[in-house]
Amino acid sequence: EGNQAPKARKHDFMVVSNRLPVDRYPSDDGENGEEGWRRSPGGLVTALAPMMTKTDGAWVGWHGAPDEALEPFSHGGMDLIPVDLSTDDVELYYEGFSNATLWPLYHDVIAPPEFHRTWWDSYRRVNRRFADAVIQYADHGATVWVQDYQLQLVPSMLRQARPDLRIGFFNHIPFPPPEIFAQLPWRQAIIEGLLGADLVGFQRPSDAANFMRSARRFIGASVKQQQIHVKGPDGRITHIARAQAFPISIAVDQISELAERPDIIERARQIRQDLGNPKTILLGVDRLDYTKGIPHRLKAFEELLKEGRLTVEDATLIQVASPSRERVRQYRLLREEIEGTVGHINGSYDTMQNTAVRYLHHSYPIEEMVALYLAADVMLVTALRDGMNLVAKEYVTARTNNTGALVLSEFTGAADQLKQALLMNPHDIDGLKNTIMRAVHLPPNESRRRMKSMRKQILDHDVDHWSAEFLSALAEIVVRDDS
Ligand code: G6P
Repeated sequence: EGNQAPKARKHDFMVVSNRLPVDRYPSDDGENGEEGWRRSPGGLVTALAPMMTKTDGAWVGWHGAPDEALEPFSHGGMDLIPVDLSTDDVELYYEGFSNATLWPLYHDVIAPPEFHRTWWDSYRRVNRRFADAVIQYADHGATVWVQDYQLQLVPSMLRQARPDLRIGFFNHIPFPPPEIFAQLPWRQAIIEGLLGADLVGFQRPSDAANFMRSARRFIGASVKQQQIHVKGPDGRITHIARAQAFPISIAVDQISELAERPDIIERARQIRQDLGNPKTILLGVDRLDYTKGIPHRLKAFEELLKEGRLTVEDATLIQVASPSRERVRQYRLLREEIEGTVGHINGSYDTMQNTAVRYLHHSYPIEEMVALYLAADVMLVTALRDGMNLVAKEYVTARTNNTGALVLSEFTGAADQLKQALLMNPHDIDGLKNTIMRAVHLPPNESRRRMKSMRKQILDHDVDHWSAEFLSALAEIVVRDDS
């Protein structure tokens, strides 16, 4: 698909996220030796692309390269409005405030959050730039859907400038309890920013409850059921925002179709064979992030080898850790830790023929991921905190013959929906080890029963269902426009 100049017009539906839903491919990789864009993988764009092309939609976001100004363009029928970030913005707003302040704070302070006023100033400035792009391109009465923690100030900026807009916000990551959120020096501004929305969506009911408790505690809002009453200086109600859980999901049809493609089934067989056809393949697939509990998983696996409950002849762990936020210190430290541990385990337990951990610091196309899901007998999702965890849902969806076992952390949003997974607490290493052994030896009929019930849950609630639920809840809200 070529890039055409956009029609000069306003949009009645706008999605706003830190990243645009396209990736640039380099010239040696593209068709005709040219540089170009391709649609990013992932459920969000799959769910929203049809709306973008059918309605007068547009997507506002960063195109991923610093210090480069791009004009609006369209790709695959979607109108894209790029927001530029300078090298400083990337360092202060993206790597700093978004990923070294908010990210650890919102994930149970697994890593210590850093608070810097320069980062906050940049976060505010960049949020303003995103809001300005929407203000410029949104038609009167348009619906605007803002995504995730990088853009929490955008809803109130929009409401102030454009009371005609219908504003939704969805937080893809957890929202912390007020006792932890309290640490943030700018907690009040963040709450007020989010409360500019008509509808504030979260993954879990507990995230929505945490947000409502913070709204009450830090800005004195009154909360009735799921309605948050925002008061002006004179004590009169100026705006009502609704907070509610909408658990996100995946593009089920896409994964199911890939799981039945003969070449992908063949690729799964090839992967098993390349590993020497072990009895059991265990699989972990994560962004290389300290929220994912990768060290806990490796520790449990190592102890099982040490105790002889597993042997490298019988079992191999494939750990895909896709590169992420590599300039942020905590991520660099984690990579060193994981690579040290993997080297230690393999050095101790590998034989000439067999490897304990096949560690891959790469990201792969979805076809290869589905082949891995098909090859894996046991999927390990050991996150210490995770807004949802879509890998768990993808694995279950790919298991079209209802075999395999999912070991799933209680600290994921997915645990709310996948109640038939083998749920565990990843901090409890003995419990994790026992759950892994239970998964390895799960009787086929029990495996089938659990997979069937999880598959049904996911098939009934795919990502289209998620976006439709959110947008219809948003559409039901009456927007008062006095302008
Ligand atoms: C999480 C966040 C997303 C983010 C993604 C990848 O899923 O919720 O907002 O886009 O991680 O991280 P990155 O920093 O590379 O965008």
